Amino acid sequence: MNKGKVAVLLSGRGSNFTAMVRDSRKANANFSICLVISDRKDAPGLKKAVRLGIPAYHINPKQFSDKAAYENEICAYLERENIELICLAGYMRLVGPVLLARYPGRIMNIHPALLPSFPGLDAQQQALGYGVKISGCTVHFVDAGTDSGPIIAQRAVAVREGDSAEALSRRILRQEHRLYPWAISRFFSGRLQIRGRTVIIK
Ligand code: GRF
Repeated sequence: MNKGKVAVLLSGRGSNFTAMVRDSRKANANFSICLVISDRKDAPGLKKAVRLGIPAYHINPKQFSDKAAYENEICAYLERENIELICLAGYMRLVGPVLLARYPGRIMNIHPALLPSFPGLDAQQQALGYGVKISGCTVHFVDAGTDSGPIIAQRAVAVREGDSAEALSRRILRQEHRLYPWAISRFFSGRLQIRGRTVIIK
């Protein structure tokens, strides 16, 4: 079987990335993680990629005149590997027009809250601060905004009394690690269709 080629963009720990790799190496998986790119040299996710035998590169945005030049460099790496889907996994930058135009409907992100609630940074702390009883995680297609693209899938996680941001984050993360590979696999079986803001799952 020809497996779908995925690149992961990350800035940090990389636990979603390793969860994807784990699933991609199961029998019958329909995708493969072919490339990791980080905007941060010290991202632990880069080291994890090397250990897993996946080509991993640090591309320093500061070495480019602007975001377009930086993203053009990323595109060169993506095209060399014939990447079909980009998965942001803890990538701490807004995706710009260059990547969005080159990969329309082919960039996903995961967010640790039930969007459209609590976009942006510290989503788990935002949820606790607001006092919600249910939070969770969301996989969505990426558009020019912050965590604002069409929603592919969500999983709910109950907030417990006295929860800390760390404890809630841990429970949400366990669900993230299941939801993201699930969404990628649906993408490559051709079962995701974007209609306006809605993603139809066939
Ligand atoms: C996750 O909580 C994800 O939802 C958010 O950034 C965090 C990345 O964690 N976008 P990791 O690097 O995948 O461990």
